[in-house]
Amino acid sequence: MPRVNPENLDLIFLEETVWVLVGEVDLPSYDFSLSQFFACRRPWLRPEPIAAIGRFGAATNYDEIYHQLAADEIFLIHSPEQHLLASELPRWYPLLEGLTPKSLWFSEPPDIAIVEQAIGLPLFLKGSRQTSRHQAALSIIRSAEDYYRAIQIYQEDPILRWQDLVCREFVQLRPVPSEPTAKIPASFEFRSFWWRGQCVGAGQYWSTSYHWNSDEERAALAIAQAAAMRLNLPFVVIDVAQTITGEWIVIECNDAQESGYTAISPFALWQNLINEERKFSELHRDV
Ligand SMILES: Nc1ncnc2c1ncn2[C@@H]1O[C@H](COP(=O)(O)OP(=O)(O)O)[C@@H](O)[C@H]1O
Ligand SMILES: [Mg+2]
Repeated sequence: MPRVNPENLDLIFLEETVWVLVGEVDLPSYDFSLSQFFACRRPWLRPEPIAAIGRFGAATNYDEIYHQLAADEIFLIHSPEQHLLASELPRWYPLLEGLTPKSLWFSEPPDIAIVEQAIGLPLFLKGSRQTSRHQAALSIIRSAEDYYRAIQIYQEDPILRWQDLVCREFVQLRPVPSEPTAKIPASFEFRSFWWRGQCVGAGQYWSTSYHWNSDEERAALAIAQAAAMRLNLPFVVIDVAQTITGEWIVIECNDAQESGYTAISPFALWQNLINEERKFSELHRDV
């Protein structure tokens, strides 16, 4: 994750409705040129204070950016606390318990016996925030040897070494066609974006070909909505997957400010968000 300098961000008043602070990150699944599709104003004089959605990727220094912008009367929609709640499993897990695989976390890798007793094998290993680029050998742990080999690498990996170690119950997910690689295999999994508790976009998580029917979509979004309600954050992403036995579970949540669009149309997502925001300000006008 890079450091972001708030001075380099572009502050846009999108469709006279919502403020967005944009920084390109050079990832096709993340960047989206709002001004090609929407009316974007960059007023010289702006009201103070304003709330703004950050679209500048995952930053190592969210806290610092938040406070630096706040000093200019620009408030990111998530406080540093809310950002952590959406991003770090040890923060969100207590709220989502029961909707998501059983999980434990450790500041130092424990003995395999401890994890095996609490969770069993196989288990799913990751950092408190993320995996290391979905490498299967570092996440899908079938034996004590797999575990010790993985944690050795965690301690040296630039993405993983700073994070707490998370051990999750391994859940057999419904597979979807994918080429065998060293990555975690694709499963029947969908991402959903929730703006003020409303779904503004949902679609396939993996870039292989699979689709949900209307019953599956309804069941998947019901679980995602339950998770979004429990988190009660302004702008959150919920990833859900179907298990091999047909149940829907939450894989993880994230701060939607830093989440990639996956197969979701960014145009439709921003259009829905603008519409929701218009309804919201109608309701809250002159109260
Ligand atoms: N507990 C689990 N059991 C089985 N598969 C899992 C489990 N957790 C995650 N996965 C699979 O691994 C993928 C990556 O895990 P995830 O927690 O989303 O990591 P990241 O934060 O790096 O995206 C998920 O998209 C899902 O397919
Ligand atoms: Mg993920």
